[in-house]
Amino acid sequence: MSRNYNFCAGPAALPDEVLDQLREEIPDWKGKGLSVMEMSHRSKEFVEIAEVAKQDFIDLLKVNNDYEVLFIQGGASLQFSMIPMNFLENKESICSYLDVGQWSKKAIKEAKKFGQIEIAASSANDSYKKYPKPESWKIHSESIFTHLVLNETIDGVCLRNLDNLPKTSLIADCSSCILSEPLDVSKFSMLYAGAQKNIGPSGLAIIVIKKDLLIEKGDLPAMMQYKTYADSDSMYNTPPTFAWYLSGMVFKWLKKNGGLLNQKIVNESKSNKLYSFIDQSDFYKNDIDKESRSMMNVPFLLGEDSLNSKFLSESEEKGLLNLAGHRSVGGMRASIYNGVPEEGVDALIEFMKEFEKSYG
Ligand SMILES: Cc1ncc(COP(=O)(O)O)c(C=O)c1O
Repeated sequence: MSRNYNFCAGPAALPDEVLDQLREEIPDWKGKGLSVMEMSHRSKEFVEIAEVAKQDFIDLLKVNNDYEVLFIQGGASLQFSMIPMNFLENKESICSYLDVGQWSKKAIKEAKKFGQIEIAASSANDSYKKYPKPESWKIHSESIFTHLVLNETIDGVCLRNLDNLPKTSLIADCSSCILSEPLDVSKFSMLYAGAQKNIGPSGLAIIVIKKDLLIEKGDLPAMMQYKTYADSDSMYNTPPTFAWYLSGMVFKWLKKNGGLLNQKIVNESKSNKLYSFIDQSDFYKNDIDKESRSMMNVPFLLGEDSLNSKFLSESEEKGLLNLAGHRSVGGMRASIYNGVPEEGVDALIEFMKEFEKSYG
């Protein structure tokens, strides 16, 4: 089996070890003569797979008993709608949003359909290259909640220091930073993440929500209510069983490898190496404010835009995949989630050095 290094922003690289285990288990899960994909979600085997995965996630993030963990289909984008639908009473209800990048804008666009949106802080005037410090946020006093995207995947911008978060009802999209390092869940009313970056297959989102927010909202369709999922162990309908199972395998891999404390060490080492290399070069540039740089998504520009396609074709030939930046910002982007080993970052830096020598 040949495996390249995959720097895709999502669906993203999965750990080789997990894929090896998956290959073994696919045709015959633990001697049962069938794959997990073919199991009833009500079978005792699958219920156990689901419960263990949920518990491992809880253990990794140290989620306390005040919170419920839900597995919901529809990716992170459905959460952009479910959040205002569940928490706003009517179209006059007020909530606050941080406008800190492309995903923030999408979340705001959806929320506007359901209530009055106040912008607590925006980095639009900094071209989304600097995450506004929590001390500068202006949260409307009647806000039912305040929404933020903790790590903006496209822009490569992140709120790294959570020390001074306001003590208000915060809801965070953690899609591209969840499980990359320890996170103090108690600072938030709700967290959510699409699975396809640090967790597992796309289509699944994991939600961590304070139990006191699980209130019935009779006018909403059952599938749109958090309470429906909480009351049914996230199995009101047939859940995305394969995604849930594979996510569970990733949680076990994380636990085996020292949990989130170790992940933080590895991820800091990977991202520091890459940023240091870019910063010392006159050919590559990352123009994000240093304190706001993402540990997971590293965008960079080449000396000349005309070299972009050459960079992409030559890197692909070397087995370094999916380095194109998002179409809205151009340039390159290396997403270095948990599934990308440090050797992948080393190989990328080596390639970048050679490319600079040839064309710089
Ligand atoms: C920060 C962030 N939020 C939301 C999304 C949307 O996720 P999904 O495609 O699962 O709906 C993404 C996808 O890349 C993302 O990076």
